[in-house]
Amino acid sequence: MKILVIHYSQSGQLTQILKNFIKPLEKENEIDFVKYDLTDKFPFPWTSKVFFNSMPESVLEIPKEVENISYKYTKYDLIILGYQPWFLSPSIPTVSLLKNEQFKNLLKETKVVSIIGSRNMWINGQESVKKYLKEANAELIGNIPLFDRHNNYASAVSILYWMLTGKKEKFLGIFPKPGVAENEIESMGEFGEILNSSILNNNLNTLQSKFLATGRIVISNSILFVELRGKKLFKIWANLIQNKVKNRKLWIIIYKYYLLVALFIVAPIVLIILNIFIFPFAQTYFKKKKSYFCSTELK
Ligand SMILES: Cc1cc2nc3c(=O)[nH]c(=O)nc-3n(C[C@H](O)[C@H](O)[C@H](O)COP(=O)(O)O)c2cc1C
Repeated sequence: MKILVIHYSQSGQLTQILKNFIKPLEKENEIDFVKYDLTDKFPFPWTSKVFFNSMPESVLEIPKEVENISYKYTKYDLIILGYQPWFLSPSIPTVSLLKNEQFKNLLKETKVVSIIGSRNMWINGQESVKKYLKEANAELIGNIPLFDRHNNYASAVSILYWMLTGKKEKFLGIFPKPGVAENEIESMGEFGEILNSSILNNNLNTLQSKFLATGRIVISNSILFVELRGKKLFKIWANLIQNKVKNRKLWIIIYKYYLLVALFIVAPIVLIILNIFIFPFAQTYFKKKKSYFCSTELK
């Protein structure tokens, strides 16, 4: 097969994930490995100001110009799209690629496997990506979300430290190492093997169920709950800030403090209450939702 592996990555984490994933595929397939960027680049490490200022355009999925990409082929049998979520949406570089005419042409009538390098909230982003792929007439056949399995609050602190300093190390020596665990990145070949044998056996229809059978793709009730509510609230903030052309800076600061309070004070209290009084009685609802979000289906 001619396979295009395409992604954007600031820290190189996603590059590493994809490189390990394609190792088992390299012998039998023609691989075009592309790392692209935007004309107007995002900084890494981030400043706090630029980080929070990228929320409205991330949530509203407003694209930027993609730097010229030279592809080896004019058509591929399979596209492996690596991406990361930003503010519960596909990152701005990802949206920019998915809205890029040249890339949309490559997607047409082509099978796609998506691979996500997230902190732990990838569900909303993937729903958007499913929509873009459908609009481009591509066929999503698999999705592998990778995420940080540490506690949500600890991982939020560590990722902010990583993003704002560029150092992928334990903040104060106490917080967990940020990002996707090293052993998960290293063992991406397990998924690559599954894809490779599915290609060799000409059986790509059941790819996602084989990925799920590894037991590595799971969604917790709390994360699901936060994602389902979070995107709606982010959309309200994003639209509000977009309309504040003059006072944007001030509104971004207000949003930043709102987010910190919502994440570290309100969410834990609400989740404790829900974990005791609601979640035990809503297992069927959660099971159904999780099974949908883990699938390649678009409702
Ligand atoms: C501006 C910004 C917003 C982010 N928002 C989310 C998010 O909503 N959910 C999530 O799981 N990870 C989020 N992350 C983490 C990224 O998805 C990703 O894991 C991290 O940036 C490393 O990706 P890289 O390979 O580009 O370095 C965010 C990162 C940045 C920079």
